[in-house]
Amino acid sequence: NELWVTRSHYFKPVKTPMFPEGLFKGKVAFITGGGTGLGAGMATMLSSLGAKVAIVSRNIEVLKNTADVISSKSKNEVLPIRCNVCSSESVRDAVSECIDVLGLPTIVINNAAGNFISPTVKLTKHAWDSIMAVILNGTINVTVDIGKRLIAARQGGAFLNMSTSYTLSGSAFTVPSACAKSAVESFTKSLAAEWCIYGLRFNCIQPGHVHTPGATAQLDPTGRFMHGKLNKLPLGRYGEVEEVANLACYLVSDYSSWMTGSIIRLDGGEFNFAAGSFNHLIENVSDEEWAMIANLIKNKRKS
Ligand code: HXC
Repeated sequence: NELWVTRSHYFKPVKTPMFPEGLFKGKVAFITGGGTGLGAGMATMLSSLGAKVAIVSRNIEVLKNTADVISSKSKNEVLPIRCNVCSSESVRDAVSECIDVLGLPTIVINNAAGNFISPTVKLTKHAWDSIMAVILNGTINVTVDIGKRLIAARQGGAFLNMSTSYTLSGSAFTVPSACAKSAVESFTKSLAAEWCIYGLRFNCIQPGHVHTPGATAQLDPTGRFMHGKLNKLPLGRYGEVEEVANLACYLVSDYSSWMTGSIIRLDGGEFNFAAGSFNHLIENVSDEEWAMIANLIKNKRKS
């Protein structure tokens, strides 16, 4: 079906920042998993819009390299900090370093994640614990640490948590991730209610398929699992890092100051398309067949 193949031409990605230069001037952002993939993409855009950004992960060499690349373009400070988000002590030290060098972050993006595709019967306890620890404990550790400091300083702030579109449905073969990300969404909504009195907002993005090397290595190492996937995406293409970054910038900026507790899906329409009972017919029914079906229905009504 030609329409199916070519429709992505209508939906070309725009990769430039959609916000004015200097939007985040004077702001400090703290981004976990900021060395690669979506985290690096969000760090890049925030930095290009004027923020000072701390990027945080276990791999300091990767962080240093990313920080150099970003700051050489944006001319704004990017601070690499080694941190294991699973450890509250490590998070405490990383946040203290960020405060010492850049200042107290009022923008926090919990992006660090762990995931791999595997039958659930093959998972060891350690495997479960590892994924839950990075995604759920990591988000809690960072949020509670920075949240308490913001509350003590009477500073408002915007938190953004990264989830995934499959929390809505659950997902076979990525069960620990689906469970942990669902909990992150609940955490987001709960603190949006509890900490609004301190000027803190919490929102969440559920990205669909954005092909970063990290995610691909963990979820489709042979390249076979994504085969045919494009046909399940109504907009005919995968997402781009910058598209997620633009939404992220909106959610941590004052443009979204009337938004909290929101979980926003950005998945090329995949979730709705997969769920709708008759959506698959757009591929399978010709105009002639529709005419024939209309006649059948009308004639049946008359009889
Ligand atoms: C079975 C596995 C495994 C695999 C690891 N394990 N990979 N078991 N199949 N493919 C097991 C290990 O054997 C070990 O258990 C336990 O998991 C912990 O693994 P370690 O390597 O010791 O731990 P660690 O170095 O901390 O690694 C954590 C991790 C890893 C979560 C397992 O994958 C990681 O750090 N990933 C970060 C990057 C990432 O995952 N990015 C993708 C996110 S994309 P035993 O019992 O043997 O000790 C994403 C979005 C999806 O989530 C959205 C799509 C729409």
